[in-house]
Amino acid sequence: MCIPPTWRRVLSGLSLAWVVAQAHTPSASTTSSAQYTLPASVNEAPGVIPNIKDPQAVNAQTICPGYIASNVQKTNSGLTASLTLAGEACNLYGTDVESLNLTIEYQTTDRLNVAIAPTYISAANETQYFIPPSVAAKPEVEESNLVSDLEFSWSNDPSFAFEVTRKSTEDVIFSTKGRKLVFENQFVEFSSALPEEYNLYGLGESIHAFRLGNNYTKTYYAADDGATVDVNIYGTHPFYLETRYFTESDDGNHTLVTANETMPDGNYTSQSHGVYSRNAHGQDILLQAGGITYRAIGGSIDLYFFAGPTQPKVTTSYLKAVGLPAMQQYWTFGFHQCRWGYKSWQELEDVVGNYTQFGIPLETIWTDIDWMLRYRDFENNPIGFGDAPGQKFLQRLHDGGRHYVPIFDSAIYVPNPTDSSDAYPVFERGNDTGSFLKNPDGSLYIGDVWPGFTVFPDWLSDGAVPWWTDEMVRYHNITPFDGAWIDMSEISSFCVGSCGSGHLDQNPVHPPFALPGEPSNLVLNYPEGFNKTNATEAASASSALASSSSAYPASTSTDTSIIRTTPTPGIRNVNYPPYAINNVQGALDVSAISPNATHADGTLEYEMHNLWGHGILKATYTALSAVFPDLRPFIIGRSTFSGSGAFAGHWGGDNWSNWPSMIFSIPQALEMSLLGIPMFGVDTCGFADNTDMELCNRWMQLSAFFPFYRNHNTLSAISQEAYRWDSVIDASKSAMAIRFQLLPYLYTLFYHAHTKGHTVMRALAWEFPNDPSLASADRQFLLGPSILVIPVLEPSAKSVEGVFPGLTQGQETWYDWYNHTAVSVSSRANTTIDAPLGHIPVYVRGGSVLPLQQRALTTRDARNTPWDILVALDKNGDGDGDLYLDDGISVQPNATLTANLTVHNRRLDAVINHGGWVDGNVLRNVTIWGIENTDNKVKFNGHHVHQGNVQFDKIKKTLVVSGFNTSAWAGDRWTLEW
Ligand code: GLC
Repeated sequence: MCIPPTWRRVLSGLSLAWVVAQAHTPSASTTSSAQYTLPASVNEAPGVIPNIKDPQAVNAQTICPGYIASNVQKTNSGLTASLTLAGEACNLYGTDVESLNLTIEYQTTDRLNVAIAPTYISAANETQYFIPPSVAAKPEVEESNLVSDLEFSWSNDPSFAFEVTRKSTEDVIFSTKGRKLVFENQFVEFSSALPEEYNLYGLGESIHAFRLGNNYTKTYYAADDGATVDVNIYGTHPFYLETRYFTESDDGNHTLVTANETMPDGNYTSQSHGVYSRNAHGQDILLQAGGITYRAIGGSIDLYFFAGPTQPKVTTSYLKAVGLPAMQQYWTFGFHQCRWGYKSWQELEDVVGNYTQFGIPLETIWTDIDWMLRYRDFENNPIGFGDAPGQKFLQRLHDGGRHYVPIFDSAIYVPNPTDSSDAYPVFERGNDTGSFLKNPDGSLYIGDVWPGFTVFPDWLSDGAVPWWTDEMVRYHNITPFDGAWIDMSEISSFCVGSCGSGHLDQNPVHPPFALPGEPSNLVLNYPEGFNKTNATEAASASSALASSSSAYPASTSTDTSIIRTTPTPGIRNVNYPPYAINNVQGALDVSAISPNATHADGTLEYEMHNLWGHGILKATYTALSAVFPDLRPFIIGRSTFSGSGAFAGHWGGDNWSNWPSMIFSIPQALEMSLLGIPMFGVDTCGFADNTDMELCNRWMQLSAFFPFYRNHNTLSAISQEAYRWDSVIDASKSAMAIRFQLLPYLYTLFYHAHTKGHTVMRALAWEFPNDPSLASADRQFLLGPSILVIPVLEPSAKSVEGVFPGLTQGQETWYDWYNHTAVSVSSRANTTIDAPLGHIPVYVRGGSVLPLQQRALTTRDARNTPWDILVALDKNGDGDGDLYLDDGISVQPNATLTANLTVHNRRLDAVINHGGWVDGNVLRNVTIWGIENTDNKVKFNGHHVHQGNVQFDKIKKTLVVSGFNTSAWAGDRWTLEW
């Protein structure tokens, strides 16, 4: 939940005293007592001018001296050297570090590490936090004396600079030549030249076009902001893929070409490489004409270069280095329904019942913070979400093959110590085990989130993960949930500093801003069952707070002046670092816990902020592994870091119910694909504001082709379940029918992602690397290699413009999913495709062999349906595909089945490898698209198929064979000839 700017404006006028909200008109479902809140000003801090927008900012390149390399030594895996300041320290945004170590490691044949870190760790450079491998994976040398296509070179001319070159082509992929290295205790800058109009992708998380362009600053400081274009949002993934396109002349020379959508056909090639900067500090990465500049407020330089030379190779190597994506349970690919505002088990049961009644598949019902007693994790609200009725409901839900996922918030309520009825054992147990973040003096850091004053788990403490695990196990014993939705993990706090310190007896019961649906003067209707305070308490709380100042205001004051920090030699200013990154929230302590919050090992939040969300995902993975021994944990988290995909999936956060949010969902998903979080989807039909029939219709169809498929909605917005409009019912059913048929394909794609680092959702540029006109394409996408989706992304449209890669060059064939015929277009440019409301254009790529199952209301039932094999022939009449099956739930399944399906010379061969998994469902039919003719003498395993079971449509060029009377995956192989 971010505070929309308009609310901020409205709220900023409120006084510093506690706001006593007005009693509202009672309604049947709400209490009518007055509710109290902190004033909006608790989340205000002095402003900062981001360095990149500050006209007075000094460019470090103009005054800093750079470094000189010496003492260069060869090692088994590369080299080491010393770097010393090349002149007088500039101390521009901190204190210059005099002496650095350079370490070069050729770690694998396609991975090179360039690391630069202070030689001595002292008070002056203590911010150089090296991310321990226990916090986030650290790639190491895997082979020594290897041969690599990447080459590191350096020079001291005029100061230390390095280059990374692809030897085979002599292409320089990274060069700091002519740009100085700046290494201070609160500022690290380095920069590389890049080709003009470079094609860079990744650097998530952002709401931005797929191709990043050269006029964009990517800022990293995990922020509770989900919908603002081009700013720092929830996640930190400092990895980019760069693709260079070339034309090749007859003599083999290649020339770089600038990609654009309208370029003519030609003989192009491309090469891709990847760069991962393993630094978790707040930072700006400036993409400008001519190059990329990294400016971090701490950390070391720890760069990993991935040679590729193709995107799949880069992605595989990157994901092997940071963590291959977690395998998901089969059921997680079903459809999920959620909303903020489901008030009871009964309401959930009604929603589930409605889906069944309308014949729309529903796999999982979710609850938002409404399930909690006063928004406290792990305690059900007895009003509406009682333990016993919950158990009964969940039994019925599970019996029906469905699942339940509740939200767990990152912050933990701190009870009022003066009110014994306010006991909260979850907090006590965590506090007893030292599991929470502290203030610099060792007292608890207390911020403010949904439940009021809260503490925050410290994932670097010994106690936090066992405590979190224990709480999950206890809660599951009461409420048998099936997965965890982790929210507010940036980590978000609604006040600046430890605003609860010294005020715990004053429980604020409402966040310091109006919630969706509440009028801005805070006439509250919130929350049900929330009756801990009364007007008398509020009045005294108000005067108490007004007359005291917080013990730990994180910032110097709460005036609204602009701060520019002048560095003090040897002393870090962590709340207001001298280099101000372009943080969307302004100062670092706004809407987030303060940089001076302290971890058990003394590390400050300054160093850890961007890793907090990764920490809770890892902790939750451990916790769910205890809750469900042997089952794959299903976790959807908000804040992520490089490698988080190994533990969790992710949703796009708080988008809007509008068309731009739907458009951006595609580049968001492609970005997450590249960054190793394939289990991604967005709030379908939109989160903030009211959706409408047309938007929801289109969006329910689009998201049906995203791996994580969930409809979620904010408090007070109109209901948007798929059954709310006739047209949305039909649209959802028709798209879900395709999704269900493709479930085995999607599951197999995930298996390849998990085992080999393949992508699931794919950009056109990745599948067609030799077509530079696709370098920016992000309005259509592929699911795996075979399915092309061209969604309508605009209101009132009856058609959509789309491209069919490789078609006019005669390299590819595309078949319309619905009418089974090959697409024919005359131009490589956009083609207008009929797409009335309720129709999402979907195409199958020639050369695909897809094992399909049938639609059902749940994936459990779908897994018991007959198999169809769809063969879409390529231009040579060939094709291939595969299938992976297991129990769909185990971390290490002891029974598996794989099948390889190949088509050549009018013959389909299915080769089945039995690893103990038995699927007894019959082979219903085999359909072949793109078949020119047949003599109707179709043979299955060498025996003629009865004529009555063979249907050939000469016009549509399709052959359908049925009547096999055998289970699809029984023997070791079967063949079909035509
Ligand atoms: C955050 C989440 C959103 C959720 C809300 C209330 O804004 O991103 O999905 O509905 O909090 O819990």
